[in-house]
Amino acid sequence: MKEAIVDKATKVVLRDIDIPVAKPGQVLIKVIVSGTNPKDWKLPAWLADVAPYNQGDDIAGYVEAVGDGVTNFKKGDKVAAFHQMQTAGGSYAEYAIAWEHTTFHVPEKTNFEEAATIPLAAMTAALGLYQRLSLPVPWNPATEQLPLVVYGGASAVGAFAIKLAQLSNIHPIIAVAGRGTAYVETLIDRSKGDTIIDYREGDEALRKNIQAASGGKPIHHAYDAVSEKGSYQNLGAVLTAPAKITVVLPGKDYSDVPEGIQVETTNVGSVHQPPVAGQTIGDIEFGHAFFALFGRGLAQGWFTGHPHEVRPGGLPALEGALNDLKSGKASAVKYVVRIADTPGL
Ligand SMILES: NC(=O)c1ccc[n+]([C@@H]2O[C@H](COP(=O)([O-])OP(=O)(O)OC[C@H]3O[C@@H](n4cnc5c(N)ncnc54)[C@H](OP(=O)(O)O)[C@@H]3O)[C@@H](O)[C@H]2O)c1
Repeated sequence: MKEAIVDKATKVVLRDIDIPVAKPGQVLIKVIVSGTNPKDWKLPAWLADVAPYNQGDDIAGYVEAVGDGVTNFKKGDKVAAFHQMQTAGGSYAEYAIAWEHTTFHVPEKTNFEEAATIPLAAMTAALGLYQRLSLPVPWNPATEQLPLVVYGGASAVGAFAIKLAQLSNIHPIIAVAGRGTAYVETLIDRSKGDTIIDYREGDEALRKNIQAASGGKPIHHAYDAVSEKGSYQNLGAVLTAPAKITVVLPGKDYSDVPEGIQVETTNVGSVHQPPVAGQTIGDIEFGHAFFALFGRGLAQGWFTGHPHEVRPGGLPALEGALNDLKSGKASAVKYVVRIADTPGL
C-alpha cells in the first residue's frame, strides 16, 4: 500500500509498504479520509534525529480487520479513530491502525470528512476540560455561573472545547478569536452571557475586555488552545487565584504567571498511557468513554465535527496542507485529504 511520510522541512514523500497487521486489541482501518494536525509538521521539525514517518493520526474509514480480543468492531463497520502518535500505522496511508479504545462508530449520516476532524482535536478538548481543569461533565452539568475562557475559540481544539462546555452548561464562555469570529459565534450562546473577544486588538484591550465579559465575576478556569503569542500571560493577568489554565504545547516554561494560578499541560497522548501513580483508572478509560460519546453524539445530533476543507489530490496534497498549517493560514478549518484521490491508486 501507499503511505505518505513527512520530513523536517515538511516535505511529503509517498512510499510503498506492507499493509500493517492489527495486533491484539487493535483495529485495522481502510482509510477513506485522513485529518491533519499542527503536530504533523511540528514533530518532524522539532524532534532531533527522527526519520521521516507517517504522521497522520485522524482516521475515518471502514474496519478491515480486528486483532485478537477486539469485541466492539467488525469488518465493514464505519468508524473514526485516533491513531497512537509516533507509532507505525498512521492515517496518511491506505490502511491505518488504531487501538480499540480510541476507535468509535460513525453513523451513516455523518460523512468521512467530518468524522476525520474529530478524534485528536476533540479528545484534546475533552481531556483539558474534564481531566485537567476538573470542570463538570455533560451528564452532571454546571448548575451555577462558571466563567470559562477558551483562548483560540476558532481553533479545532478550542471549538471542540466550546461545544463540550455548552453540553456541560458552563457559562459564560469567553472565547478569544480573530478571523474565525463568525464561526465561533455559531457555537456560543449569548443569552447565557457567552461572548467573543478579538485578540487582534492587542493584549491590553484583550485583558480589559475579558474582565468586562465575566460581568464582574472572578474567572478561575481557562482553556488555552493557543499556548503561545502571549496567551497564557494574558490569561495569568485576568484570572483570579486560585485558578487553573490548561495549555496544549508541551515542553515550555509556563512559570511566568502569578502565584496561585496553576498551569497544567493537556497531552492527548495520555489516552495511550497507563494510569498515573495512585490511580486505578486513568486517561485510557476516559478516552474510551469519550470517544464512544463522540460517536453517540454524532448519531443523536448533539455533537458535530469541525469545519473542513478537502485538499484536492489525495496524499501528495498533504504537503500544501501542512505548510498552510505551519504558516498560520488555517482559520476555523481542518484540512483533510481523501485517500482515493491519490494519483495511481
Ligand atoms: N497537547 C496536545 O495534546 C495537543 C493536541 C492538539 C493540538 N495541540 C496544539 O494546539 C494548538 C491548536 O491546535 P488546533 O489543531 O486546534 O489548531 P488550528 O485549528 O489549526 O488553529 C488555528 C486557529 O488558531 C487561532 N489562533 C491563532 N493565533 C491565535 C491567537 N493569538 N489568539 C487566538 N486564536 C489564535 C486562529 O484563530 P482565528 O481564525 O480566530 O484568527 C485559527 O483559527 C496547536 O499549537 C497544536 O499543536 C496540542
